[in-house]
Amino acid sequence: MRVLVTGGAGFIGANFVHSTIENHPDAEVTVLDKLTYAGNPDSIAGLDRVELVVGDIADADTVDPLVKDADVVVNFAAESHNDNSLNDPSPFIRTNIEGTFQILEAVRRHGTRLHHISTDEVYGDLEIDEPRKFAPGDPYKPSSPYSSSKGASDLLVRAWVRSFGVPATISNCSNNYGPYQHIEKFIPRTITNLIDGVRPRVYGTGEQVRDWIHVLDHNSAVWEIINKGRIGETYLIGANGEKNNLEVTKMILAEFGRDPDDFDHVNDRPGHDQRYAIDNSKLVEETGWQPSFQDFAAGLHNTVEWYKANEAWWRPQKEAVEAKYAKQGQ
Ligand code: NAD
Ligand code: DAU
Repeated sequence: MRVLVTGGAGFIGANFVHSTIENHPDAEVTVLDKLTYAGNPDSIAGLDRVELVVGDIADADTVDPLVKDADVVVNFAAESHNDNSLNDPSPFIRTNIEGTFQILEAVRRHGTRLHHISTDEVYGDLEIDEPRKFAPGDPYKPSSPYSSSKGASDLLVRAWVRSFGVPATISNCSNNYGPYQHIEKFIPRTITNLIDGVRPRVYGTGEQVRDWIHVLDHNSAVWEIINKGRIGETYLIGANGEKNNLEVTKMILAEFGRDPDDFDHVNDRPGHDQRYAIDNSKLVEETGWQPSFQDFAAGLHNTVEWYKANEAWWRPQKEAVEAKYAKQGQ
């Protein structure tokens, strides 16, 4: 089985490559990655049966032969950070929309199976206290340039399935945590700040809720959908992991033996989504998937240990990331 993983040098894609090599002895993996600031070849270095092609998913001539050779394409490649999309939306439009379009055209030409990775943010946000969660079929109401570009990519996939019979599925997952996540994101930023003795930064009140899932659970669900999902369907991936940002900050502070109030409130994110929460019942009922990481505290502990043990992986980025946040008062 030849698996084309776009964005496989990024956080979730790299973890997907590792678990695919470990769990699928018949798999040969080609990674197509532009190696933007968020892609790191070290995340997949030294793996057998993995080839890295450096290139852009928005470039048809790069994408076409790779899709032609693949049995399945898993599209993780994206600009993925909300804060960056507020500063400059243009790469989000090119990669997330034009890039998905080029992948769809290639899978249309070659009849290749596609799984498109998307986000729960396409559904907008929920009130902090309402009992409702996001469910498949909810209307798309994205808030940011990032989430609207992901929503646009999903709509392209749906149209290519219906109009051209492209064999594709979509998944929309909640917030991931685990190893190899870029330190611009909340959990690794907070961990690496504490490694450096710097107080964590909490946007606004910190009462916003995210539905945390370990990256390995996201990826095991993706394989279940590839194997058992119905073509044309959308599956929501989540593991009932709702926590607000204050709770997560205090849990990470505890990992470092620091006082629970040893953090700073900083400027809020414009348009900040209040709460994400996933109803995963369609995925569970149709595929039998269950998450392995039921204990967020244990998964967070392992993640803290990973960042402590892998400083060489993240250190080169730290100064520039913090300089960018400082300019925004964050
Ligand atoms: P990431 O930013 O860590 O990695 C993205 C990867 O894509 C990088 O390796 C980057 O170099 C590559 N890339 C960017 N533009 C490219 C292009 N034009 N051509 C080829 N490669 C390109 O992102 P992530 O957090 O791993 O997210 C992966 C996917 O999962 C995204 O589609 C994102 O929307 C989705 N997602 C992320 C989360 C999360 O919590 N991180 C949750 C749900 C869904
Ligand atoms: O829900 C899925 C989405 O989760 C993915 O589609 C995105 O790619 C991924 O980045 C993530 O989006 P968020 O915007 O929720 O993640 P982020 O890590 O940027 O922020 C998580 C929460 O923490 C959010 O409420 C903002 C807040 N925050 C973030 C940073 C970086 C802070 O309070 N302080 C910080 O320093």
